This record gives sequence, structure tokens and C-alpha cells, in this order.
Amino acid sequence: MTDKAQIQRLIETAEAQLAYSYVPYSGFRVGAALLAKNGSVYTGCNIENAAYTPSNCAERTAFFKAVSGGVKEFSAICIVGGQDGVLTEYTPPCGVCRQVMMEFCDPEEFEIILATGAEDYRILKLKELLPMGFGPGNLRKE
Ligand code: THU
Repeated sequence: MTDKAQIQRLIETAEAQLAYSYVPYSGFRVGAALLAKNGSVYTGCNIENAAYTPSNCAERTAFFKAVSGGVKEFSAICIVGGQDGVLTEYTPPCGVCRQVMMEFCDPEEFEIILATGAEDYRILKLKELLPMGFGPGNLRKE
């Protein structure tokens, strides 16, 4: 379980990423802060594209930064988002991002922190957001 100080730090870090999101098409800014088991925090923002489909979500940006640096074990991610960067509602991860989480995280343990600010957040386990997910274990031979 992530402690309160750590949660606050993740929320602040995710909020700080909103400024970097590249969203000329939707105007919907998303920021993420991914906590690795080694204590490192990887940041991410959404990055859109004129051809639309190459766009990348904030969560996957954070995961891919971590994995490309050799880090593959994670305990939590905080996600914030809103139109023009105004945080009025929780921003739950899209299905593709949930599947990327499933690749690297234990669905029973990994925590997804949805926040609109330091005082308003909700913590869910990956298994709640992706019940009966298909993951690396399903491809294990024997
Ligand atoms: N978006 C994310 O970055 N994360 C999510 O989980 C939901 C959607 C982005 C993608 C796109 O740039 C914008 O939000 C609107 O869909």
C-alpha cells in the first residue's frame, strides 16, 4: 500500500506533467506519475499526432520511459487529466493502457490512483479495472 506522503508526491508530479502534454487536437491534457518498486518515479504526458492513431497516452509514455531504461517492476501510477488541464473529474486509463499495465504489473497489487487534486483521489487495483485480464502468465508454457 502506497503511503499518504507518497500519494501526495505522485499527485503533484502527475499534475506537473499537464504542462508538457501535446494536445493540439483534443485539448485534453493528461499527466501520469509511475512509481517503480525501486522508488523511482517516471513521468508521462499524452502526445497527440496529426494522423491521430500514433497518439500516445500519458500512462504509456511513463511506462515506456521506465521500461526503455531497464525498469520493469512497478507499484502504482497516478493519473490526472482534464480539458485544457482543468481537473474536474477522474481520468481512468484507457483499455490499451490497462493492457500495458497488465504486462508489467501484478493485477492484485498494482495501484491506480485517480485524482483531481491533493485532497480528492481514489485508489483502485488493476484487477478492478481489468478483471480477468490476459497477461504474460497466459502464455507461460507447461
Ligand atoms: N488519454 C490519456 O493520455 N490517457 C488515458 O488513459 C485516456 C486518454 C489522452 C489521449 C488523448 O490525447 C486525449 O487523452 C483524449 O482522448
